[in-house]
Amino acid sequence: MSLPTDFEWGFATAAYQIEGAVAEGGRGPSIWDTFCHLEPSKTKGDNGDVACDHYHRYKEDFGLLSSYGAKAYRFSIAWSRIIPLGGRNDPVNEEGIEFYNNLIDSLLERGITPWVTLHHWDLPQGLHDRYGGWLNLEEIQLDFEHFARICFSRFGDRVRRWITLNEPFIIAIYGYATGGNAPGHVSNTEPWTVGKSLILSHARAVSVYEREFRATQKGQIGISLNGDFYEPWDENDDRDKAAAQRRMEFHVGWFGDPIYLAQDYPKAMRAQLGSRLPEFTDAEFALLRETKDLVDFYGQNYYTAQYARHREEPAHLNDYLGNVTETQTNKQGVSIGAESGIHWLRSSPPQFRKFFSWIYARYGRAIYVTENGCPCPGEDKMTKEESVNDQYRIDYFEAHLDAISQAVKEDGVDIKGYFAWSLFDNMEWSDGYGVRFGVTYTDYETLERTPKRSATFLKETFKTRLAGVNGHETNGHATNGHKVNGTKV
Ligand code: NOJ
Repeated sequence: MSLPTDFEWGFATAAYQIEGAVAEGGRGPSIWDTFCHLEPSKTKGDNGDVACDHYHRYKEDFGLLSSYGAKAYRFSIAWSRIIPLGGRNDPVNEEGIEFYNNLIDSLLERGITPWVTLHHWDLPQGLHDRYGGWLNLEEIQLDFEHFARICFSRFGDRVRRWITLNEPFIIAIYGYATGGNAPGHVSNTEPWTVGKSLILSHARAVSVYEREFRATQKGQIGISLNGDFYEPWDENDDRDKAAAQRRMEFHVGWFGDPIYLAQDYPKAMRAQLGSRLPEFTDAEFALLRETKDLVDFYGQNYYTAQYARHREEPAHLNDYLGNVTETQTNKQGVSIGAESGIHWLRSSPPQFRKFFSWIYARYGRAIYVTENGCPCPGEDKMTKEESVNDQYRIDYFEAHLDAISQAVKEDGVDIKGYFAWSLFDNMEWSDGYGVRFGVTYTDYETLERTPKRSATFLKETFKTRLAGVNGHETNGHATNGHKVNGTKV
């Protein structure tokens, strides 16, 4: 199952989950600092105060990254390290700039391409306190634009790959509908306001990049959306087929349609949510039209799939799923995939493949998988010796990479890269440190890192896949440059 030789690959992380040093280097607090220190705890008693101490250990971590053979590394910038209070008239923190300069230089010295996410959930607490953060559409877009401009101007001479936002769906729904993530609000109106702020903030960052930086820096910019793929619960019931489509529109289309098509939200969302879904003004549509073709790629975070079952009753006011019931087994009792170490994730590679075609047909943009990974069953209770022997994760990666190859070669989807989540075990947000997604084991007592078998697996499999040599096409025999199916391998 080969991949194009220029296929990009590496590992992904996010600032709050790994950096620690929350009160060092002039960093201001973010809404996640506040959320993690609430009493009673909403994060299993854990917080990011120390996390993996990546702030002090990044050189050691990049040594590991090099040893894993990664071509690229996706990380996020903590907004409140750059602007501790967050706003466009607030002071810029040169120590924060220096930290990320060092990070970027250290990657480049190792020949690793930095992929920078501007915002991965850690909104400056200062902006939340000042005007409600993402709830204030007018203010937040200007402050995000300013933050983005600073990042482009200070780092863009070396950073050529930008991701504006990570998983706006999760920011809006978990932050403002269920309250499971910071800032912990529970509302049936706020998530839709926040969604619009995120869309327009993204668009403004893209516009600034185009107007002020692209000509000289020649980089690319995109966004990372998340979403599960949905199969109908009853494959013979048209209402379940419609439910599966609708669920994906509520997940992906909510952001994808305005951003990549400059269209209103999917019709099913308007029909269900009515006036709670804010309209775009003419000026806002103009911004979306200006920027839609300037978004160079579609970033997809993919972990799992589910079944969607239609509901007879009208949608509840708090519903954000598109009035469907989500299940992990279908009408016949067939599971969507093998259970992992976290309840919401079952390994579903065939749906990964289908999802690519769904996204590509709708948006027609080059796709990068900006996250994919899993915890092994029972890994939260394992010793280090057990955790590093992570066969479930190896199987998961292998099957998902095979799905990518098939989508590229057989379905004609343009997929250009892959980032495994994550470089090491880290702070899994409200699940704390128990859930381990890393290819490196983190001992949270000593902060020692130990490579798991999956790290070596990824290194070896990419070496093989990118060289065009693979077991399936060649019956497991090395080909030494012979032609297989007319292609030099
Ligand atoms: C998506 C998020 O972007 C990341 O921060 C998180 O750790 C992974 N999913 C795993 O849940």
